[in-house]
Amino acid sequence: MENSNVRPESMKRIETSEAAKAFVEEQVTLLRKQIGNGKVLLALSGGVDSSVVAALLIKAVGTQLTCIHVNHGLMRKGESEQVISVFKKQLGANLIYIDATDRFLDKLAGVADPEKKRKIIGEEFIRVFEEESAKLSGISFLAQGTIYPDILESGPVKSHHNVGGLPKDVHFELVEPVKFLFKDEVRVVGKELGLPDEMVYRQPFPGPGLGVRCVGAITRERLAAVRESDAILREEFEKAGLSRHVWQFFTIVPDFKSTGVKDGLRSWDWPVVLRAVNTRDAMSATVEEVPWPVLNRITERITHEVPGVNRVLYDLTPKPTGTIEWE
Ligand code: XMP
Repeated sequence: MENSNVRPESMKRIETSEAAKAFVEEQVTLLRKQIGNGKVLLALSGGVDSSVVAALLIKAVGTQLTCIHVNHGLMRKGESEQVISVFKKQLGANLIYIDATDRFLDKLAGVADPEKKRKIIGEEFIRVFEEESAKLSGISFLAQGTIYPDILESGPVKSHHNVGGLPKDVHFELVEPVKFLFKDEVRVVGKELGLPDEMVYRQPFPGPGLGVRCVGAITRERLAAVRESDAILREEFEKAGLSRHVWQFFTIVPDFKSTGVKDGLRSWDWPVVLRAVNTRDAMSATVEEVPWPVLNRITERITHEVPGVNRVLYDLTPKPTGTIEWE
């Protein structure tokens, strides 16, 4: 049954702290049995799935787990720092942090085609992970944050969609402790394991990260504008009490400029596009009716605090016809 890919009928939904506690206990026993004295490797992105898998494994086998966190330079502001602070400092994980920003941005330089960008990011991620794991000895298990919808939606979608989708190396035995859980159940388990709310309730974030929101060929300057404006949007949504109820919200910086005035002088700068949507399954989405004063405040902050930006636009397009992301 453990090797099957069908959620056992006897498995109840995990909705309460008690149910999560029972799940954690059961998994700790199963993980210890599967892993024994072996060593496990995990690509830890900081997303809720891989974070919960890491926390479960730390509880079960401690430093027999090695986590590798690859910063591809397309993370949101403060995200890699949070992974280090939660897993290394608080949970005492054996965590290898790789800052591969230059490597990714050099490979991406001048590449404007969205599919090519995704492909480069995915392939480079696997290359960095393989290089780093080759430096380690005695690893026999590879842990993955596969969740039940990934299995239901069939493998290729996730591996194409998620940067964390690694090739199933024949030398490693897979460890997938949350593969029968749905996203909301993973969150309940994460909460039970003591992960911070910011991680547990993190909104969906595409594997290629801010790369798909820095439309066209990525430059460091425009990427910084995406990152800084995203941080302001998140801060203001949090203050306005919108963070937990809006499904996904972020900023996009397109690759064009327009005229403006700054400090009495004409400026030639980028616009920042705000996007805030609600959906059940990401197949269709509606636009959040963000209160006007919140939009005004965000506009004021972004145009004053983010270098290279002179306008803020709000994307009013539902899906369809727009997709949620711009690339
Ligand atoms: P779209 O833009 O297709 O997005 O309406 C639907 C949902 O999927 C997320 N998304 C991705 N997630 N890798 C991912 O892991 C990707 O390449 C990717 N592209 C889009 C998007 O953020 C939204 O939640």
